Amino acid sequence: MLPEQNVHVRRRTEVLQVDPADPDPASIDRAARIIRSGGLVAFPTETVYGLGVDAMDAAAVRTVFEAKGRPATDPLIVHVLSAAGSGPSAQDVTSRLPTTAQDLADRFWPGPLTLVLPRAAGVPTEVSAGLDSVAVRAPAHPVARALIAAARRPIAAPSANRFGRVSPTTAAHVLEELDGRFDLVLDGGPTPLGVESSVLDLGVEPPVLLRPGGVSLEALREVLGQVDHEPRRIVADDAASSAPGQLLGHYAPTTPVYLLEGSAAEVGRLVDRLDELGIAARPIELAADADEAARELYSTLRELDGLGADVLLVRAVSTEGIGRAVNDRLFRAAHGRVLPSDRDDAVAVLRRDLGR
Ligand code: TXA
Ligand code: MG
Repeated sequence: MLPEQNVHVRRRTEVLQVDPADPDPASIDRAARIIRSGGLVAFPTETVYGLGVDAMDAAAVRTVFEAKGRPATDPLIVHVLSAAGSGPSAQDVTSRLPTTAQDLADRFWPGPLTLVLPRAAGVPTEVSAGLDSVAVRAPAHPVARALIAAARRPIAAPSANRFGRVSPTTAAHVLEELDGRFDLVLDGGPTPLGVESSVLDLGVEPPVLLRPGGVSLEALREVLGQVDHEPRRIVADDAASSAPGQLLGHYAPTTPVYLLEGSAAEVGRLVDRLDELGIAARPIELAADADEAARELYSTLRELDGLGADVLLVRAVSTEGIGRAVNDRLFRAAHGRVLPSDRDDAVAVLRRDLGR
């Protein structure tokens, strides 16, 4: 838990259940009023739950950083309804919409794609951590869309978890992380995709995929031709300002996680060997299907984290489609630690790291 003195205003968090496909207008209206008066509302998107505020209200934006314990150097995503339609749009928060952005929006919005574009002067610098750019996406979830439409404001929203922790895919996860630090959560059930949006920087040529997510690299290349993607950067966890969102410790449970190769049976034998040495290791068994693996990833990490194991062991999934995003999050959850394939070597590494 963060020290309570970091939270200037202790809030009473209200929970409203909503139908994810067709949310009740009275609940949406209540949430929208909170946004318009500078409050904090957690809401489901198709990826994960976000913690939203009026993106144009600098004071409200600062409270999001405070609620999450997020350093002011890590910029937020602004949520809109479209590229340039009626209601809050990307056009309202950017100084220029390149045709590539329009093409991508035509193909992938509403959906799990975030575009980094030139920031409009009216958007508070806090949103972008002082950068000249702004990250924008039009979420597909009916609850998120209804909220943006009713608030008539672009909504700045990071994932609704404490900084560096696993993203929430249910309202219960949000409350576990942030109860008492925000005003209202719209509980629309579990989020359909389970991992965050892809973040694409259009300010460079060729565009760079900064974070793999719900829209695959292959699908982006179909529209853009060339897209670079940053190799996973090994960045020390205190180097926040140089690489926003690139910290390895992001998405990390408190139980140490290690990636490894090999079959489930080999992992089983490693677990048995560790057990003989008094080290409680739990394998993380994700579904073979990448979409399903994405959906269950964060709740599985959360569940296993609560079991008090000494170490969690996980095998990477297929890199197809959303699998690249799943592997990226696993790699970060593991702080980049990959075990040697030889069992004795793996045991030696774990004994050394755990001091056993
Ligand atoms: O699916 C999602 O994207 C979820 C839902 C709530 O929309 N949001 C989310 O937000 O994952 P957050 O704050 O957890 O992650 C935002 C990512 C970070 O990696 C941040 O560094 C990057 O977007 N980002 C935001 N603004 C940026 C900018 N101007 N330039 C480069 N990266 C930026
Ligand atoms: Mg996040």
